[in-house]
Amino acid sequence: MLIRFDENTQVFHLQGKTFSYIMQLKDGLLLHLYWGKKIPVGHHEDLLFLPWEGASFDSAHSRWPLEVPTQEKGYYGQMALRMQNAGGDDVVSLRYKAHRIVDGKPCLAGLPASYVEQETDAKTLEIDLEDSVTQLCVTLRYTVFAEQDVLARSMLVKNGSEDTVVLRDAQTAVRLPADRYEILHLKGGWARERHAKRVSMPEGNFAVKSRRGASGHENNPFIALVHPDTTENGGDVYAMTHVYSGSFSASVDVGIDRAPYMMMGLCSDVFSWQLQPGDVFQAPETLLCYAMDGLNGLSHRMHSFIRKCICRGYWRDRARPILLNNWEATYFDFNTEKLLKIAALGAEIGCELFVLDDGWFGKRNTDNCSLGDWVVNEEKLPGGLKLLAEKINAMGLKMGLWFEPEMVSPDSDLYRAHPDWCLHVDGRERTQARQQLILDVGREEVQQHIIDSLSQVLENAPIGYVKWDMNRNMMEGFSAVLPAERKLESQHRYMLGLYHVLETITARFPEVLFESCSGGGGRFDCGILHYMPQTWTSDDTDAAERVKIQYGTSLIYPCSSMGAHVSAVPNHQTGRTTPFNTRCNVAMGGNFGFELDLNKLSEEDLQCARDAVAAVKKWRHVMQQGEYSRLQNPFLSDGDAAWQYTDGQTVIVGIYRALAQPNASPRCVKLVGLEEEALYTDREHQITCSGGALMNMGLPVPYAWKDHDSWVYVFEKQ
Ligand code: GLA
Repeated sequence: MLIRFDENTQVFHLQGKTFSYIMQLKDGLLLHLYWGKKIPVGHHEDLLFLPWEGASFDSAHSRWPLEVPTQEKGYYGQMALRMQNAGGDDVVSLRYKAHRIVDGKPCLAGLPASYVEQETDAKTLEIDLEDSVTQLCVTLRYTVFAEQDVLARSMLVKNGSEDTVVLRDAQTAVRLPADRYEILHLKGGWARERHAKRVSMPEGNFAVKSRRGASGHENNPFIALVHPDTTENGGDVYAMTHVYSGSFSASVDVGIDRAPYMMMGLCSDVFSWQLQPGDVFQAPETLLCYAMDGLNGLSHRMHSFIRKCICRGYWRDRARPILLNNWEATYFDFNTEKLLKIAALGAEIGCELFVLDDGWFGKRNTDNCSLGDWVVNEEKLPGGLKLLAEKINAMGLKMGLWFEPEMVSPDSDLYRAHPDWCLHVDGRERTQARQQLILDVGREEVQQHIIDSLSQVLENAPIGYVKWDMNRNMMEGFSAVLPAERKLESQHRYMLGLYHVLETITARFPEVLFESCSGGGGRFDCGILHYMPQTWTSDDTDAAERVKIQYGTSLIYPCSSMGAHVSAVPNHQTGRTTPFNTRCNVAMGGNFGFELDLNKLSEEDLQCARDAVAAVKKWRHVMQQGEYSRLQNPFLSDGDAAWQYTDGQTVIVGIYRALAQPNASPRCVKLVGLEEEALYTDREHQITCSGGALMNMGLPVPYAWKDHDSWVYVFEKQ
């Protein structure tokens, strides 16, 4: 870890464990020179790129690799910072003013961000840039971590003038050299989140966005540029992700030099921010990760970083409990007796946490009412949550509870009391989705109401886990209390309010495990993982679909952040029937749990469930804290997939075969990252071979006699 500024050459060199990031000051401009494999400090000045200065229609300025491209002197590409100045124009001329190199990492006021526990764990470079005409000041922050291989960047904008100005856009931008690239991103929808997509980089603009008020099911705040020959285990990857859970834009803009700018930031379609004299705006943090060792190299770095520098608190490093959730077992149709019967069998097979999902409050027997009325329905649960939780606890299980705190049903006491508390536009229909509206969490009284009503429940019953759901996106996403010129601040104010609520609640109940959810994985991002270390990956629990969803999600998010449950067949989302052991094996690709009525299982399947629980308990330290690698990509192999976990000693391999085939040709799966000479033994399958053999010859895939077959191998290094 190192940050060096060379006075002579005016070069900033930031060195992570395996990457270098280099900038240079030239005539006051901050230029980006290099991001890639770590190189020695200094002695590269003779190689610095100089733009062509000959006669040209295009301005020289437009060719400099600007660290913060703005509207200035003929730069026509996508802007990283866009202002509306007091005079109505948007020209911004940022020039170097000062810089500091400090130990540790400053917090970002009001926002989630990566963090370190000791000042010696990171160094931060702060560079101040200023526009001498408008007195706009921009502070760029770059943090390099001692034990991690990710660069954290953010931007603080300050209005130093006597006039009011408007911030229209704030992006983290990095310019890469002109080359052939492909763009990797995560595309999807409800129940098919984060499918990995790889497309050739166009010579123009490519963007994935959300203006939903949540990061969303459709696009994830992740984008990477890779070379065409980059594979799972080799080649360059330049990736960015956002520590933010609201609307975003991730883009690649290729200008006249064919050098792409990668950008990640707020979605300017639904954002603007008025800055009064002296006001500051802190833009969300972006994480930059370079890997020279392919997509697994990216994942290893990001998983470790998210586990240690994004997730926080009591549960960060603790073994995550095996849970049993009643949603797909009962939906809204439950009572105490039914729940206890399901929980009892769960306890018997070794589950550790029983989660009561939607329907325990108000008069909610279907999804058309009561959101906002977080008072137990005593008709369903006589004696209330305390009694139920005590009974569950007596079985040896912790009790978990579902909430959807950001929402309100039009048919609720809360809405009848405060009809103006939802996001809406006066005079327009309040468009409902799932028969609900969204509270304006940007408002302080709404934040306080959520904090109070949740605290009331959590203080009065022994609840050890909360599933925090958010089941619709913004449509008329505007706050009723903001004036017209500030209306486009509504979404970001909502996020700041939500983060305040989450900070307060998680600090007040530090030992409660929080799992986020948004109609499944509709808000799976580093912002939300800062408060809740796991997310319900998808409402799609079908094993065949999950293999794909978990593949894409694992590109950046660690398995310890992905909820993965075994559910009933025919599957409730696809109607597909997959073998029970395969549903278990696939759920072992994340935080293992069940979401079915165990009483309805055959004796054989119940035994399989018992065995899976025992295996997860034995191996979860490897699954949740070890290194995860993808061995086979289901998007490139008709749905077949394979993955591997290892802590250096134990190697767990999961293989999934989508469709059986007669006379199938022999296949093998090549393991990665083992010691060539060491011997590895799988006792159950009676295999002993060298790491070199497992990595180069590969593990033969058994012949599949049925569709959706799967196998798990556990090797111990001798
Ligand atoms: C969402 C969640 C589900 C379940 C339901 C309850 O769809 O993703 O897991 O909690 O809400 O209404």
